Amino acid sequence: MKKDFLSLLELSSVDVTNLLKRALDLKTGVDADARPLSGGSIGMLFEKPSTRTRISFEVGIYQLGGQPIYMNPSELQLGRGESLRDTAGILSRYLRGIVIRTSSHTTLETFAAGASIPVINGLSDLHHPCQALADLMTIQENKNRLKDLKVAFIGDGNNVCNSLIEAAALMEFNLDIACPEGFEPDAGILENARASAKSEIIILRDPREAAGMADVIYTDVWVSMGQEKNADEKKRKLSDYQVNSRLLACAKKDVTVLHCLPAHRGEEITAEVMDGPHSVIFDQAENRLHTQKALLELLIR
Ligand code: CP
Ligand code: NVA
Repeated sequence: MKKDFLSLLELSSVDVTNLLKRALDLKTGVDADARPLSGGSIGMLFEKPSTRTRISFEVGIYQLGGQPIYMNPSELQLGRGESLRDTAGILSRYLRGIVIRTSSHTTLETFAAGASIPVINGLSDLHHPCQALADLMTIQENKNRLKDLKVAFIGDGNNVCNSLIEAAALMEFNLDIACPEGFEPDAGILENARASAKSEIIILRDPREAAGMADVIYTDVWVSMGQEKNADEKKRKLSDYQVNSRLLACAKKDVTVLHCLPAHRGEEITAEVMDGPHSVIFDQAENRLHTQKALLELLIR
């Protein structure tokens, strides 16, 4: 039976542990000659712009011996009203898997229901699970473990934050989220994660409290793609939630700083922190490639 990756919780903690091991092998060149996608094509259906997700998947698919096919929905018959379900059924006859970046998570679910090939979420309004895999790899690289760490997410409780919540529940690290009222992560995802988590996942208003003695500080843009309505008001409300050197001073001395990128220097993060000694943001972006190759090896049969 095909296995999708619409959210992180489609994998077990054992799956994630093995995937991170394999990603590290791929990164360091161990058994990196495997071409499991040889002769196969993987679709890339992207409704929104992307630098990291698109290019790391395209490169990763090529390195695994496959062919990536980028598709803009407006250039398919989808753009003229052909149904998602029919499109999913047809593309399943040509492709061995598909990565989809879309606004509405429901689009992914509908597509996955109509597809007989694995569907990978390349970002939706609710989840960014491929990002979470790279985040986990980067944290592990820097802290040598995940369990019992304290991670602080500062800013907008968006798709990236939602997937980090699922990562915390799955891999048993503590997550303090600092956000203003009205910027909380998805209530259902939070409740579900808390119900299964052995670690603590809490929402705070004070970014300094969240960052206090943190092992990792993570932030993301204040205005996500497709949510540009009232952008100035959002930025004003989030202005106390900037990751800057004052905030870093609250954390552990060896705190690691993450950002999924793209960043708006001077908004959610200062250039000083982004380019400073605690930042591993470019390693985190590189790890998208290694973790996604390991994911493709796991899902595409
Ligand atoms: N982090 C991330 O998903 O970046 P892109 O939007 O460039 O793919
Ligand atoms: N939260 C951001 C993540 C971009 C990778 C967005 O959805 O635009």
